[in-house]
Amino acid sequence: MQNKWALVTGADRGVGLGLVKVLIARGYHVFAGQFIPNNGELEQLSELSGERLRLLPLDISDEASVSSAVEAVDAVTDRLDMLINNGAILGDIKASIQDDLNFEEMERVFKVNTLGSLRMSNGLIESIMRSDSKLIVNISSEAGSIGSCWRTGWYAYCMSKAALNMQSQLIHNQIAGQGGKVMVIHPGHVQTYMQGKLDTAGALTPLESAEHILGLVENRLRPDYSGDKLELIDYAGNTLPW
Ligand SMILES: NC(=O)c1ccc[n+]([C@@H]2O[C@H](COP(=O)([O-])OP(=O)(O)OC[C@H]3O[C@@H](n4cnc5c(N)ncnc54)[C@H](OP(=O)(O)O)[C@@H]3O)[C@@H](O)[C@H]2O)c1
Repeated sequence: MQNKWALVTGADRGVGLGLVKVLIARGYHVFAGQFIPNNGELEQLSELSGERLRLLPLDISDEASVSSAVEAVDAVTDRLDMLINNGAILGDIKASIQDDLNFEEMERVFKVNTLGSLRMSNGLIESIMRSDSKLIVNISSEAGSIGSCWRTGWYAYCMSKAALNMQSQLIHNQIAGQGGKVMVIHPGHVQTYMQGKLDTAGALTPLESAEHILGLVENRLRPDYSGDKLELIDYAGNTLPW
């Protein structure tokens, strides 16, 4: 049987690391994008997994870094079954419209969360479309849902994820007719370091979130899957308003 290949961005910790662990356990060959190696767990997993797990230095906001990662993938396989755009940053979560907003930081957040994902999907689309699964999974957030928005701040993060949602729909419109698949998933409130310290209020561990996400992916890849509309869904499969 042909190898199944997946690539996860922002795989050093949090949900990304969880996704890599579950993908490896499910038999995938995985490219794990490492932004700034910071906990050693991914390296340990890589030693245990041999050729099934390949670490890629990867800053998704940087054109040269993404090009090198795409070249590294192309050197190993001409087909990528699944790209999981997971890497993201939060930015300021306090300032409202009546405060001084940090526009420079907002640009950085957009460069990672919105354009970083697009750069990856754009760079890898040919390999993705040559694969059996033809799947792009964008890890978004309930914070990107305009229909359920309650916040008065988190400008960069919420807007960057809303734009990621639109990006997903545009990609879906282009590739669905060719068998391509896009998923946009809110991973739940997860115990990660996204806010700079461990968020113990999270309802899910990264591994639990990853198990849920890959359960949804398996369902999406079933030959008898019938939905043709793209929806923003949460880790449990519930539909969220765009
Ligand atoms: N945690 C939650 O409750 C929650 C809720 C909704 C959505 N999400 C989404 O879930 C995904 C994973 O977040 P998380 O909670 O696991 O947070 P996290 O632990 O901070 O993980 C994010 C990962 O992205 C990496 N990253 C940052 N900048 C990058 C860049 N320029 N290029 C490539 N990678 C970069 C980070 O690297 P470093 O480790 O070096 O910083 C980190 O490994 C994100 O898309 C996030 O928006 C999370």
